[in-house]
Amino acid sequence: MKKYLLIALLSLSLPTQAITIDEVYKYYSPDGEAAFDAERGKQLWNQKHTAEDGKIRQCRTCHGDDLTKSGEHVKTKKVIDPLAQSANAERFTKLKKIKKWFKRNCKWTVGRECTNQEKGDLIKYLIQF
Ligand code: HEC
Repeated sequence: MKKYLLIALLSLSLPTQAITIDEVYKYYSPDGEAAFDAERGKQLWNQKHTAEDGKIRQCRTCHGDDLTKSGEHVKTKKVIDPLAQSANAERFTKLKKIKKWFKRNCKWTVGRECTNQEKGDLIKYLIQF
């Protein structure tokens, strides 16, 4: 019985453990939230990038215009759960997930990885919904 309890406790402390938004800010800057600007995040979120095929790419391309509603993946057509934390409490609580998707989505949308500054700005913008 003890063994199972130990395993249960260990699994709680794995890296997938939920983190607070302040910890996310701290991860991207030693100054935490103060380092980031929601207005800059908004601009990047809405910025239009022209891909090699001439098509416009934006964060909205998959996440949609209303962050409290589901989006649709532009290529796979799969439903993407709302990005707004008010509609999806799991959002921005797993650092591993945030890192993975920032990497993929910035590369695809912006054509390069986002900087830590940009990531923090984006989170500060997105957390308002
Ligand atoms: C090609 C489609 C696509 C585009 C464009 C896109 N995303 Fe995403 N995004 C996804 C998918 C798929 C997921 C993971 C599925 C899910 O979490 O529901 C995701 C998840 C995320 C997450 C994870 C949030 C969390 O904690 O659960 C963040 C942050 C994110 N996207 C930010 C962005 C930003 C910023 C942009 C624009 C630079 C962007 N996305 C553009 C498809 C896209």
